[in-house]
Amino acid sequence: MKKPSLSALTLFAATGLFTATIGTRVFAHGNVLPQPVDTSALPDITPNNDTWLTKNPYRGNAAAIKIGESAYGQNCARCHGLEAISGGIAPDLRYLDAGEAGDEWFADRYHHGSARDGKVYMPPLGDVLGQKAGWAIRSWLDTKHQE
Ligand code: HEC
Repeated sequence: MKKPSLSALTLFAATGLFTATIGTRVFAHGNVLPQPVDTSALPDITPNNDTWLTKNPYRGNAAAIKIGESAYGQNCARCHGLEAISGGIAPDLRYLDAGEAGDEWFADRYHHGSARDGKVYMPPLGDVLGQKAGWAIRSWLDTKHQE
């Protein structure tokens, strides 16, 4: 009887640690602060870069895909996995709906993050990194899409 209850306790502790880590990691340590993304090569978003669109204005734009790949690697990969292949701590973004069908949901999470019951699962990054960087990441993610 000792063994099962011990492993249940370990699992419980590990789960608690996991959520606590996710919540504080991004802003607590210098090496994981959001990394600014240079989007000056991309067209500005009309009417202004702070009015959030629900459709990707850069889809298929080669410059956006390149910027998005690097921005993803610096800001998202530590949770969502290198090359968008999740290691299990956050959803695998290759399976987001491709194209317009997935744009609004992508932008919502990117902009606002995700929190429930007082726990931050994903920090809001949209106002930190900017909308242009978000759609660049989305453009790159579309090239990694899997059914
Ligand atoms: C600190 C870890 C962390 C970082 C950094 C992070 N995310 Fe997330 N993200 C998560 C978690 C955890 C979820 C699941 C949230 C939930 O269950 O409510 C998530 C969910 C999402 C979703 C919704 C996925 C779905 O299948 O519904 C998108 C889109 C997303 N993240 C995009 C991004 C992008 C783009 C970046 C980088 C700019 C990023 N995330 C950075 C942890 C992170």
